[in-house]
Amino acid sequence: MDKVKISKEMMPTKDQGSRHLSQETVNKLILQSQEAKKQAYSPYSKFRVGAAILTFDNRVFTGCNVENACYNLGLCAERNAISKAVSEGYRTFKAIAIASDLNDQFISPCGGCRQFMREFGSNWDVYLSKPDGSCLKMTVDELLPASFGPEDLSMKKVFDIPNEY
Ligand code: THU
Repeated sequence: MDKVKISKEMMPTKDQGSRHLSQETVNKLILQSQEAKKQAYSPYSKFRVGAAILTFDNRVFTGCNVENACYNLGLCAERNAISKAVSEGYRTFKAIAIASDLNDQFISPCGGCRQFMREFGSNWDVYLSKPDGSCLKMTVDELLPASFGPEDLSMKKVFDIPNEY
């Protein structure tokens, strides 16, 4: 299958313009995150993660975790998918689905990824899934309450900080 085509596929038009997703669309997004998981480069943790993000105009970008011999440089699947979307010009999102190999629990995004999602709004959906396709839906705000975001930076700026040139 052509991977570039999968990751930029258009979703069915019935979901156009609405943040509410049909069950069919949710299932498809989860399947795409499971497909992305297969590309995981996780030789150190052996923990595969995939993500599929749905843009406001119904495009899907996928990502997997990409680890590194310098451990702290590893990249999470969610941040990979978000960065792919943003670098192609898409910044408004309806939902992201996350997949792992954990059979008994819904994969939960790490704190860094929650903050990365929050950069693009608090009111959009995150589908935490299991390999059987079942999922738990949470908003970014539920995952990261009382968050700090881009709007907060504009509240107070100090232009004449003492001891800074
Ligand atoms: N990982 C993700 O990709 N997303 C998450 O939300 C949780 C953790 C990755 C990072 C690392 O490659 C591996 O899973 C183990 O932590």
